[in-house]
Amino acid sequence: MKRVAIYPGSFDPVTNGHLDILKRGLRLFDIIIVAILHNPGKEGLFTVKERVGMLEESTRDLEHIEIDTFDGLLVDYAAKRNAQAILRGMRAVSDFEYEFQLALMNRRLNRDVQTVFLMTGLRWIFTSSSIIKEAARFGGDINGMVPPVVLKKLKKKFRQAYSRS
Ligand code: PNS
Repeated sequence: MKRVAIYPGSFDPVTNGHLDILKRGLRLFDIIIVAILHNPGKEGLFTVKERVGMLEESTRDLEHIEIDTFDGLLVDYAAKRNAQAILRGMRAVSDFEYEFQLALMNRRLNRDVQTVFLMTGLRWIFTSSSIIKEAARFGGDINGMVPPVVLKKLKKKFRQAYSRS
C-alpha cells in the first residue's frame, strides 16, 4: 500500500519554508498531495489559480507530488484521496497551539487520518506567507525566502513599493 499524505494549507503564496517541509515529507511518504484550501469566504492576496501555478512551477523538479485544491473539511478530502496522513510544518512554539487544536479536531472528525508534524529547517523558522507579504507590501528584501516565481509575482504585485526602494 502506498503511503499518501496530504500537505494542506493556504499557500498564499508558497514559501521556501513550505518547500523545505515538502522535501522532508517526501522522505517519509510515497506520494504527497499539496492541497490548497479553496475558501470563497476568505480572499487571499493571490487567487487559488495563481497559487496553483506558483506551486507547480516551484516544484517542477520534485517527483511524487501532486498539486490540488479542496474545499470543505480536510479530513473528508483526505479520505476521498485515500490518504493516511496530514502533513503539517512546525516552526516555533507559537505554531503549537493552533496546530494542536487543528490536529485534535481532525482526529475527532476522522480517527483514521494521522497528523504528522515535521520541523522546518532552522533557516525557515521565522518564515511565513503573511510576514513575507507584509515585507513585500512595503518593498522589503525577500530574496531567498520564496521561490523565484513567487519573488517575481510579489514584486509585480507591489511594483510601486519596490520602485521606491
Ligand atoms: O496554511 P494554513 O492557512 O495554516 O492552513 C490551514 C488549513 C487549510 C490546513 C485549515 O484551515 C483547514 O484544513 N481548513 C479546511 C476546513 C477544516 O477541515 N478545518 C479543520 C477542522 S474544523
